[in-house]
Amino acid sequence: MVIAEEVDRATLAIAILDDHPAWREFQAQSLKRAGFGRIETMPANPSLFVRRFGEKSREFASLVFGLRVDSEVSWENLRVLRGCYSGPIIVASPQREVLSVADKIREIGAEDVLVLDETDPEAIELKIETVLMTHRIGKVLEENDLRTQRLFVNILTVMVKILESKDPYTKLHSHQVVKWSRMIGRRRGLSDEALTRLGLAAVFHDFGKVGVPEDILNKPSGLSNDEFALMKQHPAIAKNILGSLDQLADILPAIHHHHERWAGGGYPEGLKGEQIPLWARIIGLADAYDTMSSRRTYKEPFPKERIIDELIKASGKQFDPELVAILLELIEEQR
Ligand SMILES: [Fe+2]
Repeated sequence: MVIAEEVDRATLAIAILDDHPAWREFQAQSLKRAGFGRIETMPANPSLFVRRFGEKSREFASLVFGLRVDSEVSWENLRVLRGCYSGPIIVASPQREVLSVADKIREIGAEDVLVLDETDPEAIELKIETVLMTHRIGKVLEENDLRTQRLFVNILTVMVKILESKDPYTKLHSHQVVKWSRMIGRRRGLSDEALTRLGLAAVFHDFGKVGVPEDILNKPSGLSNDEFALMKQHPAIAKNILGSLDQLADILPAIHHHHERWAGGGYPEGLKGEQIPLWARIIGLADAYDTMSSRRTYKEPFPKERIIDELIKASGKQFDPELVAILLELIEEQR
């Protein structure tokens, strides 16, 4: 089942409405780097937006609105903006208090809320990606049985939130695993429909961690054998929970087998080579790559040269050599 059409970022236009020029510029630069095709910036003023774009406001895939939580005028502007634009609106603010009024923001009809942080320029890109994906899914589903399908989207959203609340790294990590899985998958020749499903599998690849005790999840290193045995349950836990949703049946094998090893000896079933589903091989590789590339409490990000060495060493052992070759190409191109 196709639940969302693939869209090329370069064709998307985003408007950033924020009264602070520095934050406008910060977001615009982040989105340009992330490959969005057109970014318009202006003060957080809905009348100005309508005057400038009028009918053409429909060309925007999403708006980002800079809310000042303590300003009644700013709240009113958000309401007016909601009334004159029908696509998804993301509310962004450097004030952390924005999280405590997230329910009120959603009641007004904005899709999501983001705390701006100058040390985390990718956050805006990831938020837009998620909102657009949910919105696209919602749009496709509206043509079907509206109530059932809305329920399905809500269930997915709830599940993503449960997962993200479990451990602080999961949120950014699963976004990165989605991004790299899709890049590897695209180069490997997967169709747009398959890439959408692969992306969904990548979002949920570690969902089973909801069933692993938090003290084990957050332990920096040195798990005992018993603790590691519990940790290794997470693919099976995910299969068990997500298996309750028929709509996810096609992505379960990718989630269940993302810790198998190309040469065998992985878990949960010790599959080898092409016995391991392709999507699971892709996600396993993207997962390892992002873990090496990012900071954890117990380690700094590895330098690129070391990552490349590790990938070459693990090619044909832990990972499918064809996929490693693709990833190395992609890393090279990003430099
Ligand atoms: Fe995992």
